[in-house]
Amino acid sequence: MAANLKWPTVLAFLLVAGMVGIASAGNIAVYWGQNVNEGSLADACNSGNYAYVILSFLSTFGMGQTPVLNLAGHCNPGSGGCTGLTSDIQTCQSQGIKVLLSLGGAGGNYGLSSTDDANSVASYLWDNYLGGSGGSRPLGSAVLDGIDFDIENGNSAHYDDLANALKAHGGVLLTAAPQCPYPDASLGPALQTGLFDNVWIQFYNNPGCEYANGDDTNLVNAWRTWTSSVTARSFYLGLPASTDAAGSGYIPPGDLTGTVIPAIQGIGNYGGIMLWSRFYDVQNNYSGQVKGSV
Ligand SMILES: *[C@@H]1O[C@H](CO)[C@@H](O)[C@H](O)[C@H]1NC(C)=O
Repeated sequence: MAANLKWPTVLAFLLVAGMVGIASAGNIAVYWGQNVNEGSLADACNSGNYAYVILSFLSTFGMGQTPVLNLAGHCNPGSGGCTGLTSDIQTCQSQGIKVLLSLGGAGGNYGLSSTDDANSVASYLWDNYLGGSGGSRPLGSAVLDGIDFDIENGNSAHYDDLANALKAHGGVLLTAAPQCPYPDASLGPALQTGLFDNVWIQFYNNPGCEYANGDDTNLVNAWRTWTSSVTARSFYLGLPASTDAAGSGYIPPGDLTGTVIPAIQGIGNYGGIMLWSRFYDVQNNYSGQVKGSV
């Protein structure tokens, strides 16, 4: 049998295998915005390491409040100081990188008091950050690719309404960053809408579902539960980019590419990894070390 294989056949097989390998390589998503020492948004995109950059955070919204963007020391939105990011956003998008705005975060003051409140937040986001007009546009004229839900305060009310209202506009990417214990206390009902494109699950600060000391059992079990319980276009393994980036959950690059990725990439709609955050990634060059093997 083997003796009958012709070289062109062998070469064609190797070529196709190589193409499949490239096509199935995962993406890297990264959060940017909470540490001025992480460098510019354009530098992050020009690294060539990321497919998604998630601006963090819109830390105040809902309950009738005027929404507030918080990009730490990068710029002051109150004085119009973040409109200069428009050209960086466009630099990212010209490279095919999707730029998203993240709602919430671990701090902040946010929540949705009713369906009407969710609809008005959706209109605000559309007019100020997406394809609409008439808002004050804190990031200038750039049109973001979508909205990320990083809701962490345990109040899940009406985020399903918000997802519905945003998706109704068409062309808006929706992503979410739940914690790995399933279901997520804040995002459970929103994720059940099935409207989310990418779900980056936080496999950190949650010891019960993390990789630890060479043992991927808990992580793989949680991955299996998530990918079989939620409908989404793809799922990402959310990780700290360095040991300093989270209280627990850091996976050394060699363990990630050698053990963890091979264990999960065949389960559910694996899309790649998400990193918290650009600052820690700059310190540790995590994405640079694992890119091409995730
Ligand atoms: C990051 O790691 C990769 C792979 O080892 C290496 O090629 C690259 O030069 C590193 N980048 C930096 C900024 O250290």
